[in-house]
Amino acid sequence: MTTPISINFIESDIDTIATLTGKLAVLVSPDGKIDTLARRVNRLTKGAIARFAESDAFAKLENGAGVALAYPAGMACEGVMVVKLPKRPSVVEARKAGATMAIYKGTGALSVLAASNPKAADISYGLALRAYAFIAHKTTETDEIQSAAMMVTNPEGVAAEAGPMAALAEGVFFTRDLVNEPSNILTTNDFAARLAAMQEIGLEVEILEEAELAKLGMRTLLAVGQGSSSPSKVVVMRWNGGGDEAPFALVGKGVVFDTGGISIKPSAGMEDMTMDMGGAGVVSGVMRALALRGAKANVVGVVGLVENMPDGDAMRPGDVVRSMKGDTIEINNTDAEGRLVLADILWYTQERFNPVGMIDLATLTGAIIVGLGHEKAGVFSNNDKLCGDFLKAAEAENEGAWRMPLSPAYDKLLKSRTADMKNSCGRPAGASTAAQFLQRFVKEDTPWIHLDIAGVALLTGDSDLAPKGATGWGVRALDRLIRDKFEG
Ligand code: BES
Ligand code: MN
Ligand code: ZN
Repeated sequence: MTTPISINFIESDIDTIATLTGKLAVLVSPDGKIDTLARRVNRLTKGAIARFAESDAFAKLENGAGVALAYPAGMACEGVMVVKLPKRPSVVEARKAGATMAIYKGTGALSVLAASNPKAADISYGLALRAYAFIAHKTTETDEIQSAAMMVTNPEGVAAEAGPMAALAEGVFFTRDLVNEPSNILTTNDFAARLAAMQEIGLEVEILEEAELAKLGMRTLLAVGQGSSSPSKVVVMRWNGGGDEAPFALVGKGVVFDTGGISIKPSAGMEDMTMDMGGAGVVSGVMRALALRGAKANVVGVVGLVENMPDGDAMRPGDVVRSMKGDTIEINNTDAEGRLVLADILWYTQERFNPVGMIDLATLTGAIIVGLGHEKAGVFSNNDKLCGDFLKAAEAENEGAWRMPLSPAYDKLLKSRTADMKNSCGRPAGASTAAQFLQRFVKEDTPWIHLDIAGVALLTGDSDLAPKGATGWGVRALDRLIRDKFEG
């Protein structure tokens, strides 16, 4: 498991600056104004900071970006990074500034001279999120920053503000670890064990095994896992921090590996299907964050953990399976397995918890990547209010999201010759027909959102707040939605 970087907040002390070793980061506002701590560095370096602040190179920097000056004369440190940041930065700018400092790699500690910047806590949050590294399986040394000290004028105040952010960061890291973990390690058993361990932080965790799932009638979920030697499971996580109201529900696709099954995928790129449990990963990360920050809300997280493998017991194209709801499904493509998992757990979640709202997350279709690329997740909803609230939360967290259409015309494409519906209807509007399939298992009066995160869960390059690999997309937006909706 990833150990998050530790960040301490200490009283500003200009007298120690000359002797600080390791790396330093100072803030300079776009108009070139520097705070008292940066002024001290400027004096020690005989005006190097002010000279840089007047340069074209500085003018061209975006807010939150920075440039490093190596081995400044007159100081003990290895280098000073000058980060451009307004005196009153936005949350997004402040986090970006922290992230810039996080990739200022090298040996030794990092000291951030944040002085009285009002967004010091957000700077630390961005620093923590970007400093994440998945090193579980590296046997050689890495050069990731392990700790940082931030000089601020009000260390207790900033630390108090940063506390809940650190809980959120831990939720994001939990998701990223799950998504980055290869499938020989993150089996359905291992995944469930990691979730069960969250009982220690106050979550109620229930694991439903295959015999119980069969009794409940979750035949479509079980069909997906029947070709794998890893047992299928459903894990229910509950956080009851609110009153006695019905909970809000988060539901996640947890396909620990997706070969496609008998409708097997081409081998090129198949290794990325270790991330096909991304939806379940986000649900788990949000539940962890809610518990760690002691959220005043009732939330239930339900994840379906299965592996989609081809073997003598595997489901076949053409098979007809009856869902827990009772509708029958012709499985015309065993690679459209995510919707089969979700169909049963969406139904189960509504029958058991009668939630006030429900959001499912899934790396559901390649089609959403064709439509939206890796910038935005697809958002499908039967409820304009809930959808609007979610889009606002995603926007505030700078997590890309874009609403996509549902319509009876797409639903018609699900028609099957042998059953009530088929599970795959080919290329046209592939993300919408998948969402339409899910909607068949959503009660009309359940406000619902489906998030297709196939394009955003795992990236091949670095992004603002994450190194390449798993992003943890959605943990922050969902936590914010829950905060605004139930804790305001
Ligand atoms: N897990 C995949 C979707 C996916 C593709 C996620 C790429 C991440 C990156 C899903 O189970 C799948 O195979 N979907 C099929 C559906 C089709 C058979 C209707 C797809 O998108 O091709
Ligand atoms: Mn598939
Ligand atoms: Zn899949």
